[in-house]
Amino acid sequence: MNFLTDIQYPYQGKLAVLCQDDNALNIHSLVADRLKVPLYQSATKNTAEDFFLTWRDDRLKLIDKDLLKKGGLSVDIEPRPGEQRSWPAPKKGALAQALGRKTKTIVDATTGWGQDSLHMFRMGYELRCIERSPIMVELLADGFTRLSEVDWVKNLDVQVPELISGNAIEVLSNLETKPECIYIDPMFPPKRKKSALPKKSMTILRDLLGDDKDREQLFEMAFQTATKRVVVKSPDYAEPIAGKPNESFSGKLLRYDVYLK
Ligand SMILES: C[S@@+](CC[C@H](N)C(=O)[O-])C[C@H]1O[C@@H](n2cnc3c(N)ncnc32)[C@H](O)[C@@H]1O
Repeated sequence: MNFLTDIQYPYQGKLAVLCQDDNALNIHSLVADRLKVPLYQSATKNTAEDFFLTWRDDRLKLIDKDLLKKGGLSVDIEPRPGEQRSWPAPKKGALAQALGRKTKTIVDATTGWGQDSLHMFRMGYELRCIERSPIMVELLADGFTRLSEVDWVKNLDVQVPELISGNAIEVLSNLETKPECIYIDPMFPPKRKKSALPKKSMTILRDLLGDDKDREQLFEMAFQTATKRVVVKSPDYAEPIAGKPNESFSGKLLRYDVYLK
């Protein structure tokens, strides 16, 4: 495949789609076309790209070249350990406190791997999800499709969150129905430059997408758009994004800063 410009094809040299099952060539080539990346039928450590998208175990996975034989990462739709498995789960913990128990409608402006979104969804909030990385949109779309097929979701006729692809700064400015709460969890620069920790989902996301340098603009737009509050998740070492918040709730190594309108 030939690439024209970096702007048109932002994943040039970084990502390819890998299809190791001839019967699934169609579905893989659709993704490769949508993302405008090469489609390979095999890959080794010498392949130019660092990341691959592939269907394995009935789900779309992102695989790091260094870990080609390992399982890969997909959007995990299972409740977190300790979370109540009924729907809606009780609104408890730092995230629920920050969102507000009376809040009904939320937009997650930085959906990423969807873990916070899915937690909010399981607590019964009415949720819309925005994500600007087309790779993450593919992974999320697969996760939300799997979610819509889960027995309890079908039996209770629960609506899975709407997934909106695009830059939230633009999407929020065009929203017809404004949410009470907007949740943002942008990527902050890491505390240390190099980490010896194994590659986890968030470090892989940073390798792939980089830091979200426009997070302050995103906050401004979120604050203009939400009718009641903006909740910002940040690492515990980071300064609050927009000065002193009205309230702050701490979790493990992180903080939810709440800015009320
Ligand atoms: C730290 S991750 C979010 C993780 C997520 N809260 C979770 O639980 O998996 C940040 C994500 O927000 C997305 N993002 C950052 N700024 C955005 C923007 N302005 N519009 C849409 N998505 C954005 C990035 O592409 C990235 O996928």
